[in-house]
This record gives sequence, structure tokens and C-alpha cells, in this order.
Amino acid sequence: MNGFIERLTTALGAENVLTGAAVHERATSWIDSTPLHALAIVRPRTTAEVATVLRLCHAARQPVVVQGGRTNLVRATHTTARDLVISLERMAAVVAVDVANQTMTVQAGAPLQRVQEVAAAHGLFFPLDLAARGSATVGGCVAMNAGGVRVLRYGMMRDLVLGLEVVRADGAVLTMLNAMLKDNAGYDLKQLFIGSEGTLGVVTQAVLRLFPAPRTQATALLAMDDFAQVTALAPRLQRDLGGALVSFEVMWNSYYRLTTSAPAPSKPPLAQHYAFYVLIEALGGDKRFDQSRFADALEAAANHGLFADAVIAHNAQQRADLWRIREDSEQIERQHHLTFGYDVSLPIGAMEAYVEDVQAGVALHFGDAARCWVYGHLGDGNLHVNMWTPQLQPADAGRVAAIVYAPLRLLGGSISAEHGIGLEKKAYLALCRTPAEIEAMRLLKRSFDPHDILNPGKVFDLEDSLS
Ligand code: LAC
Ligand code: ZN
Repeated sequence: MNGFIERLTTALGAENVLTGAAVHERATSWIDSTPLHALAIVRPRTTAEVATVLRLCHAARQPVVVQGGRTNLVRATHTTARDLVISLERMAAVVAVDVANQTMTVQAGAPLQRVQEVAAAHGLFFPLDLAARGSATVGGCVAMNAGGVRVLRYGMMRDLVLGLEVVRADGAVLTMLNAMLKDNAGYDLKQLFIGSEGTLGVVTQAVLRLFPAPRTQATALLAMDDFAQVTALAPRLQRDLGGALVSFEVMWNSYYRLTTSAPAPSKPPLAQHYAFYVLIEALGGDKRFDQSRFADALEAAANHGLFADAVIAHNAQQRADLWRIREDSEQIERQHHLTFGYDVSLPIGAMEAYVEDVQAGVALHFGDAARCWVYGHLGDGNLHVNMWTPQLQPADAGRVAAIVYAPLRLLGGSISAEHGIGLEKKAYLALCRTPAEIEAMRLLKRSFDPHDILNPGKVFDLEDSLS
């Protein structure tokens, strides 16, 4: 055993330092089932142990990759056999819930779903929600600034974090466990770490903002043939539902067909011939009026010709069935070997023409057999674009990315709305960040992590590969 592993074992106990087969029996990630490679996996139980591990790594110039649920979609937790994995699986406790202040203090390894459930048990609500809720951890959601299906109303993770505890690369602990809604005392340092993808520090605890638990939930699936109906409906429902609209999710026809046809488990609740499908959900606090307000808003929208057909969920099962159609993006990979997925944002009014451009570009380069599935969080300006062709090769990635990303610059869009950069999109960061912005990111990285041990090579390279 080398001296470094020995020092880790002395500090954490042998059962918390996994090597060899215990490393390889884990999968690389949710999207990559090949065995995980790493020097070792350490499983600290406390912030002090995380600090000890990082002090040792800093001194030894040992690269570190922090892993939570490994359900990010951009290879942000990818490792080589040289990397040490810090897994926060033993730091998954809910530390405190403050009902009056509407906050929860939680360790970074806790899964999102546990946070949602504990909040609910206190009559409160943690609004962040995404399909990977069972595996995604609080620390992962912070590191990736997770988005999901309720951003329209509640914002992304960075809007829901009041305080953070972070261990710096050299082992120093930054205790920023603020629990106040308002705190303007100097720089808001915690925001630097949110969305930094594990490159600036290791998040060990978070204070999350909670909300009163909703008492009503209304869900409907609508179908349209004209994109102008979709864009007119979104602001109208926001207005007519008095701010209760939390989700406005879109599916282009091909995606709806895919997730409502065998072998997908869902059946189509609306005919499969419409061009667009929109899943809407409203959360409210008034059992007497919310249901009729929802029905009235839909009726008014129907009278204005803003959708062609609709189905409303009448119970939890029907609601879950509608959501499964939207969330079952797994069908893309399951049914088609090697697909490319993108997560772009752009102005809502430009989306229809953008998708047509991308589809035309893909057909031009890869022929008519190419398939495109488009869906996403339309209310947030965020589309997920997935594509496949029979002959697609990994080497085609650059060509497809050019088709998908090129129009975004003119539109002021982003190559990553919510999934982040990781390794997957690193080569394209400069498409939506200026050289001065990337240099400022490097400046921060060098000052927080002078030996470049934290998730090295993710998001951007410290040196320009050309220089
Ligand atoms: C979703 C994931 C892919 O929205 O972000 O389903
Ligand atoms: Zn998404």
C-alpha cells in the first residue's frame, strides 16, 4: 500500500477507504455503466474528516473528484485511475429543520428526495425537483446548480441555498451557514461555489430555503399544432393562475410519440398527431378556489384558441402518468444506441425556428434517417435536444455540436441551460463565454485551488491548449 493511502486509512479507518474491486464494482455514472476507476474512494463522516482528506491531498498534489449520486449528464464526476474519489455517502443527514424560519440544514450527501420528504413531514416544501430526485444529492445539486421542473416559479438551486459549508482545497473550512433570507454583509461567497462543478471547493452542508407546503396541485397535458399557441399560453397562464404556475414543460411531437409508444410504458392520453404537447402544473394554497381557477384559466385559453386538446389529471395516479411521459427521456438511450444530447437555452420566441434549423442541419449532414427529439422546460427558455442517426459515431460529436450550437450565439442563448459543462461540453465553453470571462474563471480557480487538485480539467483547462 502506498504511503498516501496509508495516511488516509489512518485518518478515516480502513472501512472508509475503498480500493481495488470495491472501487470497480461501482459504475462510472448513470449514463456510463463501465466500472469506476480511481486510486481509492474515501467516505468521510464529518466535515473535519473531509478537511483532513483535503489537507493530505493538497500536500501530496493529489487530484480529487467528489461524487454524490453520479446522475449529472456532462461527465462532471468522471475520474481516471489517478484520482481520489471523495464520496459523501456517509454525510447524508438532515441536521435541522427550522419551521418558523422555513429552512433546513442538511449534509451534502443527502438525496434530493429525502430533503423533499423531510420538508413535507414538517408541512413545508423544498421546490427543486428533477427526474433524478432519488439519486441526486444536495451537494451535487449545489455543485451543478441544478434546475428541473419548477424553476419557472422557484428558481434554480442557487435561488434556494441560503448558506453553505465548504471545505477549501487546502482543508480550510469556510463556514457560511447563513439561514437568513437577507444577508448583504460583503461578497456572497457561497454563490461562487454553486455551479462550480466541484472545481473550487467541497460542499459539506447547506442551509436550504423552504416554502409552505402546497395544498392543491393541478396538472394538465395540452396539445397544440401551432407554436404561436405555445408561446402565447405561457405568459397567459402565469397571469391567470396568479403566480401558481410552477411548470410549463414542452414536448415536440417526436418526443411525445417516443415516450407514449411501446416499449415505453406510457400510453398516449392525447392523440399522437399534434405538433406540440405542453405539461402544466400549478401549486396553490386554496382548496376551495384553486381547482376552479385552474379550470377557468384553461377554459379562457381554449376560448382564445391556445390549444387544440387537453387532459386534466384527476388523481395522483393520473398526475404521475402525465409526468412519466415528460420525464421518461431514458427511452432515447434505451431504444437508440449512441445518441447525442444537448441542453440549450434561448429566447422562447426563437425556439420554433431554432429547432427547424437544427433538424434541417442534421438531415443535411446525416440524411433523412436522422432523428431529433426535443423537449424541455419551455417556461425557462430551456430545451433538451437529443439526436441519433443509424451511422452516428463518437467522432461526429463536433459536427453535430456545430449544428446545435451555432445559432445560439446570434440568439444570445447558452450551450448549457442547466446540465453544466463537465468534460462533455468543455470544448464549447468559449461559444458562450468571452476570453475575458474564462480568464476570470481561471483566476478564481487558481486562487481557491492553487495546485489544481479539485476536479481538475472539468469546465475549462487552466492553460489554453494552444499556448
Ligand atoms: C430533464 C433532464 C434531462 O429535464 O434535464 O428531463
Ligand atoms: Zn431538464
